[in-house]
Amino acid sequence: MCGIIGYVGAEASDRPLAVVMEALSRLQYRGYDSAGVVVVGEAGLAHAKKAGKLDALEGELAARPLQTASCAVGHTRWATHGGPTDRNAHPHLSQDESVAVVHNGILENHATLRQELRAEGVEFASETDTEVAAHLLARAYRDLGNLPDAMRAVARRLEGAFTLLAVAADNPKEVVGARRTSPLVVGLGQGENFLGSDVAAFIAHTNRALELGQDQVVTITPTSVSVTDFAGNPAPTREFTVDWDASAAVKGGFATFMDKEIHDQPDAVRDTLLGRTTPQGRLQLDELRIEESLLRSVDKIIVVACGTAAYAGHVAKYAIEHWCRIPVEVELAHEFRYRDPIVTVKTLVVAISQSGETMDTIQAIRHAREQGAKVVAVVNTMGSTIARESDAALYTHAGPEVAVASTKAFLAQITATYLLGLYLAQLRGVMFADEIRGVLEELDLMPAKIQEVINSEGEIRALAERMKDTRSVLFLGRHVGFPVALEGALKLKELAYIHAEGFAAGELKHGPIALIEDGQPVFVVVPSPRGRDVLHDKVLSNIQEVRARGALTLVVAERGDRAVLEHAERVFWVPQTPTLLAPLVAVVPLQIFACALAGAKGLDVDQPRNLAKSVTVE
Ligand code: G6P
Repeated sequence: MCGIIGYVGAEASDRPLAVVMEALSRLQYRGYDSAGVVVVGEAGLAHAKKAGKLDALEGELAARPLQTASCAVGHTRWATHGGPTDRNAHPHLSQDESVAVVHNGILENHATLRQELRAEGVEFASETDTEVAAHLLARAYRDLGNLPDAMRAVARRLEGAFTLLAVAADNPKEVVGARRTSPLVVGLGQGENFLGSDVAAFIAHTNRALELGQDQVVTITPTSVSVTDFAGNPAPTREFTVDWDASAAVKGGFATFMDKEIHDQPDAVRDTLLGRTTPQGRLQLDELRIEESLLRSVDKIIVVACGTAAYAGHVAKYAIEHWCRIPVEVELAHEFRYRDPIVTVKTLVVAISQSGETMDTIQAIRHAREQGAKVVAVVNTMGSTIARESDAALYTHAGPEVAVASTKAFLAQITATYLLGLYLAQLRGVMFADEIRGVLEELDLMPAKIQEVINSEGEIRALAERMKDTRSVLFLGRHVGFPVALEGALKLKELAYIHAEGFAAGELKHGPIALIEDGQPVFVVVPSPRGRDVLHDKVLSNIQEVRARGALTLVVAERGDRAVLEHAERVFWVPQTPTLLAPLVAVVPLQIFACALAGAKGLDVDQPRNLAKSVTVE
């Protein structure tokens, strides 16, 4: 939440501002309530900030260009304290304009600090929590004489979560950052260096990056990077290479990132499967660096995640319980953390997250580890906090996901949890090797099947176009179709701002059926008739129940399932797939529907209102 970029180069030029503006366009998915930049040149600090999306700031810079500079810092905001106004946009400058800061996170003791500063005569220019950091930093800078020391002194006084970047008016060759819990990575260039909320900020310039730990301060100059803890002791860092390049984060000819990312899904699944089996068909998850004896003794799995990632966890529950015979609970990370959950050394916590920075999930992991549980992260972002703070990280290889609402990461997460389930089954000897091989072979066929669904998108797009004035849509599913229904409803809410609810089809008669009236659109995810017949037939009965009450039934069903024809106004066919793997194809028409309907309403599909891709506050 909030995107941050810092840059320092050797010469005063237009490059720092250009680098920062390009980075902000890549980081906008983290928040887009306002944006701002500050540069340091001959004439000290110069800044510009504007409420609204990045084009508002671009307009401001075109009208009032900033001086050339050798360093620059930029920020794109998702408002927490203080509304999305020009005044509250970052950067925030100290009253004497000696320093400027940008911030991601929440400073929990800002009210106390504000009082203290007011008593000293400081006048506040915004309603943000961040502004206290600017004034404190200016004071510390005056007292201590250098920005890194000043930043450490301020960081020690702050409570809450923060990434702060700061520049000083009298030093155009230095950017200083501090992080506690919120994300920050260093990009290593040649004769220039970068700081970013994530690697997308600088991937156009370098793929060499440094992970930072908790409670660290980093200072970059054109030729050096130094990292310390908040006390000033040198801190260890780890360099890593980003395995995707800037071209992966552009629209590539599609109208929106969401369209592109839906089309990326076959690759996301293929790449997540890649390199994880031996030629003999045995699963090999090298990253799972948890002692095998521990994994064998696990007696409960708890999946923690938020949003779409939590629905991937719901799918995982069905698969892992079936394959491994280990009980699996799925819990929203924010609920898990605060309900005194029963966690022991025999509990395996699986944290699923695209960004690896969701604060609720981070807190859940910390809580689980304090109770002695081992944590496996299923995560898409290398070097992210969740990856680093877990005992092991099983990476999804979806590539950068830019659209705020998740699509390809969801499919990659489901795929990775299948691998995890099969690996545990292999390790614990609860499935025969040829059974596991059989599932892996089926998984290898999934990218082509997903592609087949995408190829037939025309029909579902046409339906979405016709339904653009719809006010409410319901989604029903059973078994693994239930999380698919939940995700279909979430996509529609997020993208098209339409009231949508997902229900377990069997629950319908216990209440939700009262919502059905003439013409109510209801999507139904029908399980394979070749799987467990009972399941298929029960869902057909559920369709009849809503249809009898006037619902317009829109059915996602397996090709060849002729029995659904008489129960549906419209059928969207997906390829034949084993029941447990079916979410990978069944959700795709629902994603396309939501995306197309939002497009038909003229909405911003990539940046829906009020949302942020990476929610780094609790
Ligand atoms: C936000 C995003 C969702 C996402 C959720 C979890 O709410 O808008 O699309 O599913 O966070 O994010 P994560 O990065 O942890 O998967």
